[in-house]
Amino acid sequence: MKLMYRLMLTFFTIIIILLVILSVSFVQVTNNTLYHNTWNQLKSYSDSLVQDSIRYDPANRSFEGFATDSLQTNASLLTRQHVHFAIYDTAQRQIYASNGFTSTITKDQWNKLKDGEVLCTKVTMAKFDHQVADTKTPEMTEVLKPYFYKGKMVAVVSIATLISTIKENMHQIVLNLLVAFVIAALLTLAVSYFLARSITQRIERLQKATHEVARGNYNVQVATEGKDEINDLAQSFNTMTKSLEESRQEIHRQEERRRQFMADAAHEMRTPLTTINGILEGLEYDVIPEEDKQHSIQLMQNETRRLIRLVNDNLDYEKIRTNQISMERKVFDAAAVLANLQEQLSKKARAQGDCIELDVTSELRVYADYDRFVQIMFNITQNAIQFTQNGLIKIQGRKVADGSQFKVTDNGIGMTKDQLANIWERYYKADRSRMNTKYGESGLGLAIVHQLVLLHGGKVTVESKYGKGTTFTVFFPDRDHAPHGTGKTSSKEKN
Ligand SMILES: Nc1ncnc2c1ncn2[C@@H]1O[C@H](COP(=O)(O)OP(=O)(O)OP(=O)(O)O)[C@@H](O)[C@H]1O
Ligand SMILES: [Mg+2]
Repeated sequence: MKLMYRLMLTFFTIIIILLVILSVSFVQVTNNTLYHNTWNQLKSYSDSLVQDSIRYDPANRSFEGFATDSLQTNASLLTRQHVHFAIYDTAQRQIYASNGFTSTITKDQWNKLKDGEVLCTKVTMAKFDHQVADTKTPEMTEVLKPYFYKGKMVAVVSIATLISTIKENMHQIVLNLLVAFVIAALLTLAVSYFLARSITQRIERLQKATHEVARGNYNVQVATEGKDEINDLAQSFNTMTKSLEESRQEIHRQEERRRQFMADAAHEMRTPLTTINGILEGLEYDVIPEEDKQHSIQLMQNETRRLIRLVNDNLDYEKIRTNQISMERKVFDAAAVLANLQEQLSKKARAQGDCIELDVTSELRVYADYDRFVQIMFNITQNAIQFTQNGLIKIQGRKVADGSQFKVTDNGIGMTKDQLANIWERYYKADRSRMNTKYGESGLGLAIVHQLVLLHGGKVTVESKYGKGTTFTVFFPDRDHAPHGTGKTSSKEKN
């Protein structure tokens, strides 16, 4: 069965059961009330009847009997209202009966009456000495009431009326109730339809959205309303589609990066391979003059080295990026390492007309992997030399809160904001025209630096002014920190 009909049936059944319970109790209460009202009326008739006809002996101040003429008058008055009565003396003998009406009083009832109890009977079969004209059905409701004088029971009045009036009233009430019941049932049907519809519509919306997702469209969101379970489901669905869309975009980005990487790698390899191929062809056809052969071989060697470096750098970058390198972090003297670095790079610096100045706190302790620290500082300083002509390269090292900080400042060509934003990307070279083949750049140096600093839980930032110079700042924390993230640095870090 469809959920909609199941829900409808549930709502309908619950409301109908409630209606039935209410109707039954209403009928019961009304029936009882009608009987009680009738009994109260009968009691008051009986009281006025006795009051009218009872006679006392004023001399003895004792009960004498009932005045028959008064009883007669009352009898004819009450008969018109379908009320009949009989009066019994203390010996349970009938002393008067209107229309020959007789009541059957059991022994038990008589005892109760003697105790002063008023007895009311819902349905009793009345007996008449002779058939009363308009009393076709003898079904009556009766009240037995004892009367006392000076603490002694003097008489019992049995007064009864036809229950057909009560039955008629009840019949009318039940009929009205039935009509109300049918109307309520129809309304219930309509209400349960709308209730069920509102629930199933929301489920249908979710179903449609799920089909969209199955078709590969993750850009769907369903409306959330209310605070029920369906709303929770809708919210979870929205979160799911959002993360699916994010993963799809990430996969797309990765695919794009992979494609870009393949293109860049191929491009980087093409130049040295073309050079080597050209020289080899020249050698094969013997078109290279003997005096140039040595130079050509030297050139091939340079290009091969460049290719080897490119492949090694790529492998290194991938290993660092995928966390496959082992890092042995320890505390060592950074001042000594940087002094060594200055010496190593002084030849290169001189070739560019640069001067390297060292400003490092003596015995500056840094907590890092020795080889990787050298690699980081080497790459940055080499860049500074590479992009500075006849300038000054300053290497600073300081102890800062929670770690050590190094700055490499040059007054070289600098970078624009746009160039700065990309320098951490693989194969990025700010300006291809200023490529210095002497160093065989491939645009991998800073990408490796960035990943290595992240692995140390540190931070690398750069400031640069086009035509003025550049400053790289690297921070190494003193204690082991979780890497700052595995992706690229934030724009704040970059600028
Ligand atoms: N100190 C600097 N001054 C000016 N530009 C710089 C500086 N450092 C880096 N750059 C720019 O950032 C680019 C990326 O640097 P990166 O070190 O990654 O590559 P590379 O030096 O070109 O090649 P590799 O380091 O792989 O040999 C450089 O090509 C250069 O344009
Ligand atoms: Mg470099």
